[in-house]
Amino acid sequence: MTNTKLYIEGGRKISGEIRVHGAKNSALPILAATLLNPSVSVIENCPALSDVYASCRILSSLGCRCRRVGDAVEIDASDLSGCEISEQMMRQMRSSIVFLGAILGRLRRCRLSFPGGCELGPRPIDIHISGLTKLGARIIEDHGVLDCALPETVSGAVINLPLPSVGATENIMLAAVIGSGETVIQNAAREPEIVDLSGYLNACGAKIAGAGTSTVVITGVKALHGAKYRVMPDRIVAATYMGAAAVTGGELILRDVRAQDMHSTISVFEQAGCSVYPYNDRIFISAKKPLNAIKTLRTAPYPGFPTDCQPIVMALLTRAKGASVIVENIFENRFRAAPELRRLGADIKAEGRVAVIEGGKRLSGAAVVATDLRAGAALVLAGLSADGTTTVSNVHYIDRGYEQLESALTGLGARVRRG
Ligand code: EPZ
Repeated sequence: MTNTKLYIEGGRKISGEIRVHGAKNSALPILAATLLNPSVSVIENCPALSDVYASCRILSSLGCRCRRVGDAVEIDASDLSGCEISEQMMRQMRSSIVFLGAILGRLRRCRLSFPGGCELGPRPIDIHISGLTKLGARIIEDHGVLDCALPETVSGAVINLPLPSVGATENIMLAAVIGSGETVIQNAAREPEIVDLSGYLNACGAKIAGAGTSTVVITGVKALHGAKYRVMPDRIVAATYMGAAAVTGGELILRDVRAQDMHSTISVFEQAGCSVYPYNDRIFISAKKPLNAIKTLRTAPYPGFPTDCQPIVMALLTRAKGASVIVENIFENRFRAAPELRRLGADIKAEGRVAVIEGGKRLSGAAVVATDLRAGAALVLAGLSADGTTTVSNVHYIDRGYEQLESALTGLGARVRRG
């Protein structure tokens, strides 16, 4: 991975208007889901991200023909050549685990290497495994390889998730859509990306009800057909752009965004002192007033405040006078932006799942390192507000979830270049 850097000149206000691209965390499961039908699907508003290209490489390795056509990706899954995902591909992107349910749903057989942990923690898949086993899957772990088989027809099951895992909910949906029985997922994840996946699958002829609630009911069907589907806007990228306006005291209009997916995030920006006005497919945000500290901010499964926005808000709280407390309830190790933000002069103490930010002091530019996707984005935001130049390395993490973040921000008045 070439170690490209972003060079950020701080102190410039963000202002203007920007379109929010399609959601990575919806595009990835939907791309996996195209395996379920032996025909062509066209996934529109599919973001140009390295994780999306990694998914297309996995699809191609399984025998699909993938090609980008403008803002869409066209996948022909008519003839699959294999049911195995290589270790190298699995290591490239741990969210490839969502291919397990899709490959089982189509081929009833799948071999893939255990997805490694990632920067956020061990990322276990026990809930995926137990859910698929309840569906009748036989899953053998052998030296880091998962060898899985699903009976010819899945006759349905009632599966209660110990916690509303997004990936496990998606994997069970993908494995259950083709079959004869009814599968009920209780305590299912309610994220909008689950609703988007169900929208695509139902467009392909699946029968899924309740996506977006805690109880998802899948009535098995004989087969699926291809479909054209438009991916929802990325609510985390939208929050990141809002964060750029907040940390620079600017104002911004976001286009092609769905405010109804972002209530908890919008209310956090309002608590921090921003004025936020959603209207139709736009959001206007203004941060002309000094930011307020937030006494206690807790991350939670949807519709609670999303863990993916936590590093973004941590960056903007460095500017808010007073003490803010963040409690990270989803991932074990998601304060990795903190030590890098301290290099910019932020006063942040992180211990276990609690971080305390003493905000209000101006940050000053320094060389910092992105450790994961959203921590990297948080460092870019902090660089926008710091005096002087900040360099952020390991930009490949940021490219996983943001389409050319530097040109997006430059178009809004920032000075960011890649080198
Ligand atoms: C999805 O990850 C997202 N990734 C993550 O976004 C997001 O942070 C996360 O959901 C929570 O919203 C994609 O959609 C590709 P989980 P996922 O299963 O599915 C534990 C980003 O920045 N757990 O809901 O892996 C797990 O360890 C990424 O875009 C188990 O214990 O999240 C975590 O603590 C980062 N056993 C919690 O549940 C399991 O079998 C939530 O994980 C599965 C999960």
